[in-house]
Amino acid sequence: MNGKRILLIVGGGIAAYKSLELVRRLKERGASVRAILTKGGAEFVTPLSLSVLTEEKAFTDLFDLKDEAEIGHIRLSREADLIVVAPATADLLAKMAHGLADDLATAVLLATNKQVLAAPAMNVRMWQHPATRRNLATLQADGTLFAGPDEGEMACGEYGPGRMAEPPAILEAIARLLDAEAAPLARGTPLRSLAGRRVLITSGPTQEPIDPVRYIANRSSGKQGHALAKAAAALGAEVTLVSGPVALPDPQGVTVVKVETAHEMLAATLAALPADIAICAAAVADWRAADEAPQKLKKQNQVEAELKLTLNPDILATIAKPGPKRPRLVVGFAAETENLVENATAKRRSKGADWIVANDVWPGTGAMGGDTTQVHLVTAAGVEDWPPLSKDETAARLLARAADALSALRSAAE
Ligand SMILES: Cc1cc2nc3c(=O)[nH]c(=O)nc-3n(C[C@H](O)[C@H](O)[C@H](O)COP(=O)(O)O)c2cc1C
Repeated sequence: MNGKRILLIVGGGIAAYKSLELVRRLKERGASVRAILTKGGAEFVTPLSLSVLTEEKAFTDLFDLKDEAEIGHIRLSREADLIVVAPATADLLAKMAHGLADDLATAVLLATNKQVLAAPAMNVRMWQHPATRRNLATLQADGTLFAGPDEGEMACGEYGPGRMAEPPAILEAIARLLDAEAAPLARGTPLRSLAGRRVLITSGPTQEPIDPVRYIANRSSGKQGHALAKAAAALGAEVTLVSGPVALPDPQGVTVVKVETAHEMLAATLAALPADIAICAAAVADWRAADEAPQKLKKQNQVEAELKLTLNPDILATIAKPGPKRPRLVVGFAAETENLVENATAKRRSKGADWIVANDVWPGTGAMGGDTTQVHLVTAAGVEDWPPLSKDETAARLLARAADALSALRSAAE
């Protein structure tokens, strides 16, 4: 990043204070930074703070004759290697998407031919609003790159996606774009964003009735599947979560379809297609009772009783089957208690999935129903051993990988 020139646009969000930290870190890495402060931005941080940290004048006004004569909006763009918008407020994203140019920041953004990296920051409802979703999809199609947002506690007291990515994450995104040795991404490659993408996730167990009061189930809690849905929504995806019976709240900003049996889950899953990514994290019962008794089965003094089982449909294999509706990335989960990686590798091939996430559910691991997990990602390229992580972290990591993979597939198709 040494010697690179960043033009930082600071919008009017509470996260503006984090852009001061970003300037500091960019300078530490040898970049030079010029800052433009919007009128809204100047309500949160001062031009003085920005100019002290950047060691340059902080620019604010489009119609400043002195600035326009010395270094106008065109020159600000021309003399930058990358434009970073942080925080990118809902308002600023809307203006960018519609090509408005009524202040210095938006005039530069419209006049530039440089790559633009935006770090969205806003309240969860602003982030999930259909207008913002449309604006993001437009910007993404136009080639704007995105870093974040994160999911978490917000200044407004709410929780969800919309929190600005932390400065180290934005710095990493900038480094990936600018540092030759860090394999820069092509213009138009979205950075860890799934805005405008459809993601389908299955979660939880299924319950297979034996009679009106009994059923076959398993110990899946749905925590991993629900975490995946949250992580996909946090990256801006349009998410459908098909869930078996779980004791978890519905994730915000996600369409939740509740089912009980494997057959219902298959039907709901197929109904949710087409999707760009499908992640089958549900623990679907392999078998169901061959004959569901219409009345409660009676003991009738039998010491032993037989329960005849029949195979359930294979949801992962059905979705992964080649065809016009096959999602571009199909990911399955393999819960195993032995020969984890071998079984998962075989499962990837036999089911036709692109990736299998193998997790050890041996009771001692606490993975089934617990909050942490250690997985292995099996892809065509081999096996990656991930460290023990919370299910939220595993979900964020998997969705980031999926977003990158989708971008790579799109670039290859272009
Ligand atoms: C205290 C406060 C905090 C705000 N935080 C945000 C925010 O985080 N994200 C956002 O999109 N808008 C936020 N807004 C609203 C924006 O400031 C407002 O839409 C403004 O016009 C955006 O200006 P800009 O286009 O220069 O960024 C906030 C407003 C106030 C009063």
